[in-house]
Amino acid sequence: MASKLYKSKPFTFSFILLLTAFLFLTINYIRQVHTEFQNESLKNPGWFDVVAPYIRHEKINIGLVNMDGVVDNIDRGRGLQRRGSTVKVHYDLVADYIKWEDLFPEWIDENSPSKCPEIPMPRFEDYKELDLILARVPCSRDDERSGLRDVLRLQVNLVVANLLVRSRRKNNGPVFAVFTGACIPMWEIFKCDDVLWHKGNYWVYKPELTRLKQKVLMPVGTCQPATPILEPSGQEIWRKYDNKSKSHTLPQPREAYVTVLHSSEDYVCGAIALAQSIIQTNTTKDLVLLADVDRISQYSLKGLRAAGWNIKPIRRIRSPHSKRQSYNEYNYSKLRIWQLKDYDRVMFIDSDLIVLKNIDKFFNYPQLSAVGNHKHIFNSGLMLIEPSICTFKTLLKKRFVVASYNGGDQGFLNEMFPWWHRLPAKLNYLKYFNTINDQLHEIPHDLYALHFVGLKPWMCYQDYDCNWDSLENHIFASDMAHERWWNVYNGMSKKLKQYCSLTSEMDARIQTERANARNATFVDGHWKIKVKDPRRHSILIS
Ligand SMILES: *[C@@H]1O[C@H](CO)[C@@H](O)[C@H](O)[C@H]1NC(C)=O
Ligand SMILES: *[C@@H]1O[C@H](CO)[C@@H](O)[C@H](O)[C@H]1NC(C)=O
Ligand SMILES: *[C@@H]1O[C@H](CO)[C@@H](O)[C@H](O)[C@H]1NC(C)=O
Ligand SMILES: *[C@@H]1O[C@H](CO)[C@@H](O)[C@H](O)[C@H]1NC(C)=O
Ligand SMILES: *[C@@H]1O[C@H](CO)[C@@H](O)[C@H](O)[C@H]1NC(C)=O
Repeated sequence: MASKLYKSKPFTFSFILLLTAFLFLTINYIRQVHTEFQNESLKNPGWFDVVAPYIRHEKINIGLVNMDGVVDNIDRGRGLQRRGSTVKVHYDLVADYIKWEDLFPEWIDENSPSKCPEIPMPRFEDYKELDLILARVPCSRDDERSGLRDVLRLQVNLVVANLLVRSRRKNNGPVFAVFTGACIPMWEIFKCDDVLWHKGNYWVYKPELTRLKQKVLMPVGTCQPATPILEPSGQEIWRKYDNKSKSHTLPQPREAYVTVLHSSEDYVCGAIALAQSIIQTNTTKDLVLLADVDRISQYSLKGLRAAGWNIKPIRRIRSPHSKRQSYNEYNYSKLRIWQLKDYDRVMFIDSDLIVLKNIDKFFNYPQLSAVGNHKHIFNSGLMLIEPSICTFKTLLKKRFVVASYNGGDQGFLNEMFPWWHRLPAKLNYLKYFNTINDQLHEIPHDLYALHFVGLKPWMCYQDYDCNWDSLENHIFASDMAHERWWNVYNGMSKKLKQYCSLTSEMDARIQTERANARNATFVDGHWKIKVKDPRRHSILIS
């Protein structure tokens, strides 16, 4: 037995040796197969692995928008091959004679607006089962310094948005948009809050559909007035456009009127009058004032609080494109309204406006709704916006690269929000009279809010609009508008009126210009008025 055992030892030894070699080869082989499996061209694209876990049903329907000729990894990846099912979305391209200016005309007849140019859409009923849309955003100019006002780019964004809000996928699961290409989607439509994942040239969005529906409801440009987003009952208006969708009443939104004081005390009186004018309309909204408390005195803050504002302290923001010491050096402080995340919607109003009629119903529009200024530009003196921290951060980052035609916030915001929605001109009426024959400079009686461009009423006399006194400001002069502002003033308490005192500096400036007007015997003859403004008896030494 012992010798037999001894004899078999070499055999056992070589057997183990063989087995080890075999195992070694097998492991190597498996490793090789595994490497092949991990081969880049067999992997799912990153965006697919991000989206797939959210979708509970087996087949993932993928719509392709503007993906022709794009080398994409749509066919590869085992998971994608097994679960994905792609369909190309067909639609006619927008006619190439349609330009941005056609969608954003300077002026429209608000009472009977003509139709907007047509931006063709797919036949939605052919694509109602999509889970995901893979789209390439066209980029004709990859110019980061200006707003991309590109009609084809708008069409692709609108096609994707419209398909997503109409999707009727099983289980009412989430829907996704995956954008590729050198340009990101339009953030006016696809909010930065909805970005789920981003790598290289791929951006995955999981859009909040309530908001996306509101955007899709808007006309394609300012060629027509903006559409309200809720019915008076609080129901989504979307239902009217899509019979199959269930409408629901949205929770009561949190909304506020907001203004900003960032650099000088010159506008404290304006902000007080603005608050008082809003309160006189019996508003139900909050009033919030952002104040740089290093520059606005405690005394002024006290008055502003008494006038009705809730004060939120801020630090001002410099405009990178404005000259040092210029009047608009810190106008970018206005960007801080996007930080007000306690509110769903904010109606920003500059301190040189007053409200004349209740305008609470104009909260019923999405970001960014405003009134036209000139060409395709909106006036940033009154804007409806939706606070969002990522929007705020993006604006702060972009302010260094995106230009502003006037160095101020208006130029910058127009580049950042080229796709905006038109509110009635009477909501931000710019008293500006450039027709030669118009000597009276009258304003309509039924205005919602009046914007005092030019010299501010409280920097003139109560019975005398000093804009008449210089050729430069003549276009802003209007006795009728001036009177509307002083009506608000006259309704204020004695305590609040103190904040609108005449200073020696203002008085000296008025007198100089008035003397010039008298000397030049301006035909409007306002320089002849015998001024009775009682504020002249208690001039503050400035
Ligand atoms: C990956 O797969 C492709 C095609 O299947 C093949 O051409 C390539 O050689 C593979 N690469 C590696 C590293 O195995
Ligand atoms: C919804 O239904 C009404 C009548 O019930 C019809 O007039 C309207 O065209 C429908 N709208 C859509 C978008 O299908
Ligand atoms: C505001 O409410 C008061 C008291 O209810 C009312 O007398 C006044 O007419 C209202 N003002 C407006 C502009 O509706
Ligand atoms: C900048 O702000 C000042 C005062 O706050 C205002 O008078 C001016 O119109 C603003 N300028 C621009 C270009 O927005
Ligand atoms: C008044 O106008 C005349 C010319 O019309 C000019 O020579 C003179 O300097 C002016 N005086 C003042 C004080 O501006």
